[in-house]
Amino acid sequence: MGVKVVGTGSYIPEKVLTNIDLQNMVDTSDEWIRVRTGIVERHIAPPEMSSGDMASIAAARALEMAGIAASEISAIVVATTTPDHVFPNTAALVQKSIGAENAFGFDLSAACSGMIYSLELAYSLLARKKYRYVLLCGAEKLSAITNWKDRNTCVLFGDGAGAVILGRTDDDESGQLASDLHTNGSYSDILKLPAGGSRQPASHETVEQGLHYISMQGKETFKLAVNAMTSACKNVLAEAQIDVSQVKLVIPHQANKRIIEAVAQRIDVKEEQLFVNVHKYGNTSAASVSICLDEAFREGRITKGDIVLLVAFGAGLTWGAQLIRV
Ligand code: UT7
Repeated sequence: MGVKVVGTGSYIPEKVLTNIDLQNMVDTSDEWIRVRTGIVERHIAPPEMSSGDMASIAAARALEMAGIAASEISAIVVATTTPDHVFPNTAALVQKSIGAENAFGFDLSAACSGMIYSLELAYSLLARKKYRYVLLCGAEKLSAITNWKDRNTCVLFGDGAGAVILGRTDDDESGQLASDLHTNGSYSDILKLPAGGSRQPASHETVEQGLHYISMQGKETFKLAVNAMTSACKNVLAEAQIDVSQVKLVIPHQANKRIIEAVAQRIDVKEEQLFVNVHKYGNTSAASVSICLDEAFREGRITKGDIVLLVAFGAGLTWGAQLIRV
């Protein structure tokens, strides 16, 4: 028995916010953003649209590709840092929206590593005969928690959602070849949303101080990301005893082109083995890896039986890699 990717989907909001637009909002320049991050534009969801709405559209597209009914889904995991509500969970909203009446669902909070962690759960669930298909969504409306007056962060993020359906198959080849997941709470302060939780509930003061926006120590995060992602990639390749040349595509979390290139260089990945779309969408946190996976399938860069290396790093700190045969 194996587990394979049976369908993927994504949703990117229509509205584009370019670097030039940002030049008129904060003290920045198109050149600075391109050179330091590789980002050219990002997409912003309309006010009435939530992460759950975007996840539902991506999920419907993944169901269409898979050619299965929503009622066949056993479990839904929504990885997000921007859930529709603290509760109910966003997965419940997706379940209702796509009509997956037989699925149980929950949200997963692991920031940008959300899809890497979700995949671990999906492969574990599908090892049991009880479950046939698991739907993973990564969805973010980061524009809702971005301080549009802070040039250190507002140029980096975008909105969007991706979805992946994994299913049990008789083909023994497909499945998880290796994984490497980590958390280090010692660095929890370098990237966070300070207020709005039980430690610092929302109040007039927290709103006045802008504590409901993303706060990040960029340089520190950069260095940690490169080292952690490199080591996770090396660990999964070693565990599976697979040479990097056998990997069809490396899909890294899309936070910064310089981070992606630094990791690629350290693990000796060729340009054609590397998936990059940060220039189009910016950093979409938990959504980024699943959006990439969907684009990679639809652009024909990967196909059934290929070995794919997915790797991410985010707040927590959380990081990890998955080496899978799709
Ligand atoms: O999703 C996972 C977690 N996130 C990440 O992995 C992001 C990691 N960090 C980064 O991508 C980079 O650190 C940034 C893109 C955030 C910043 O790039 P950097 O090369 O590390 O720049 P810096 O923070 O060292 O800032 C350099 C200068 C500073 O000016 P001074 O102090 O040298 O005078 C900043 O004030 O650039 C200034 N700066 C800007 N200038 C123009 C910061 N943001 C901007 C901006 N436009 N938007």
